[in-house]
Amino acid sequence: MLKRLRARLPRRSVVYARARALISRHPLPPGDLVRLDVVEKQDRTFLLRRATEVGPIFKALAWGDLWVCVVGLERGRRLLREHGAALRPVTLQLEPLFPKGFLRQMQGEDHRRYRKALLRAIRGEDLAANRRGLDTIAADALARYAATPRADEDAAADFIRTLNAAASGMLVQIFFGSQFGTPAFDRVMAGYQRLGPYGLVWQPGPAQHAAFAEIRDFLLAEFAGAAPPPGAEASILGHLVREGALDATLLGNLIYMVEMGRYDTYSLFRWLAKYAADFPALLEAIAREDASAAPPAGRRSLAEAFVIEALRTDQSERLTRVALRDIVFDGLLIPRHATVRVCLWEPHHAAAVFPDPFRFDPARWTGEKDPGADEFAPFGLDAHQCPFGDLAIGLAVIFLRALARAWVPVATGEGLPVKGLYHWEPASRFGVKLRPRGPMA
Ligand code: HEM
Repeated sequence: MLKRLRARLPRRSVVYARARALISRHPLPPGDLVRLDVVEKQDRTFLLRRATEVGPIFKALAWGDLWVCVVGLERGRRLLREHGAALRPVTLQLEPLFPKGFLRQMQGEDHRRYRKALLRAIRGEDLAANRRGLDTIAADALARYAATPRADEDAAADFIRTLNAAASGMLVQIFFGSQFGTPAFDRVMAGYQRLGPYGLVWQPGPAQHAAFAEIRDFLLAEFAGAAPPPGAEASILGHLVREGALDATLLGNLIYMVEMGRYDTYSLFRWLAKYAADFPALLEAIAREDASAAPPAGRRSLAEAFVIEALRTDQSERLTRVALRDIVFDGLLIPRHATVRVCLWEPHHAAAVFPDPFRFDPARWTGEKDPGADEFAPFGLDAHQCPFGDLAIGLAVIFLRALARAWVPVATGEGLPVKGLYHWEPASRFGVKLRPRGPMA
């Protein structure tokens, strides 16, 4: 009863915004208080249209709170640069699990220090060193899926589990060096199964605390010896241990980066599978590409172009921040407590930059010139930019090639994309049948 009453009362962000608007010299952003969490579910292009109707900065409601949306990458970057200290990223609160919490929400010196240590441990050459193992993880997950008989209506859920297993395994190998097929790999994977059995748990409870401690203690024991465990030299944890840079904050972060990153990664794999089923000729062309040959300088392979196009069309959506104090930006008041949504998906669908923007077309990325950073920024715009952008693309290419090489995916259920818990996803019914790819002429 009390809960229902509270849900009906306007939230602090809305009450505060109304009060500030009465006395501020600067107006609130335009736009009536439509419920974004409701309207967007029916219309993915809602924000794009709203920006043309009322201007690139506008207000709305989402889950009862005041949201301010900012459309335009240059504008979003400028907002974050000018007011970054007053804008706190919205993410998991992990301080109860390890000191200082998640890198994503650190600010100032802590953020600079831990991010620097992490960047030093992310090495491009590790992807090459681990390529065979990563490929085996993807190929094995797909082969197991193909070998299991199931009704079409079970394909969607089973396929998500398969992609989750592939993405989790690949990240476990590259982060911790645990090699597929070893007891150590199985132990860590079982820990992750307990940490988020049905997806990312936004508010970690006792089960997450226990699973987190289990993974942490196992990794500490594994790396306690004078030498890293076999295969772990080319891993992020391996580099941090060797350089003496590891502490409880970094280890906690690595464990939770895999937890959050596996969701991002398997969601990307799911979009790749969807477009692979939609465009079989493109997948066949990827199967024909020589994966061991580097593309000519300044060019990229079709597989990589396919992945980048999926980042543009679907995977990358927005940055969210909470205003810690009143901000005046481009003459408008962004009041304290408001959630600021810096839109990425909308600029990635600007027709002036991406002609026919709703068409999936990897050829956009195989030419000589890419769009600029103010036109395409799937991994963010400020000091919190994704440190794993190249790695995510690399893993996705490995997955896509493993799919293309052996299988022709055929969709078992179709429909329009849906707004999932955190991101847009292919239709809930989207699953695949994997037909073996015959020998190619
Ligand atoms: C699969 C595609 C991915 C996309 C599209 C993506 C996108 C992004 C974006 C847009 C940000 C900026 C967030 C902000 O400014 O609020 C970000 C930050 C971050 N991402 Fe990713 N990401 C991906 C994969 C991953 C993976 C695989 C990992 C790790 C396993 C990861 C770890 C992180 C971390 C730790 C940050 C915060 C960095 C900081 O605060 O300094 N991401 N990502």
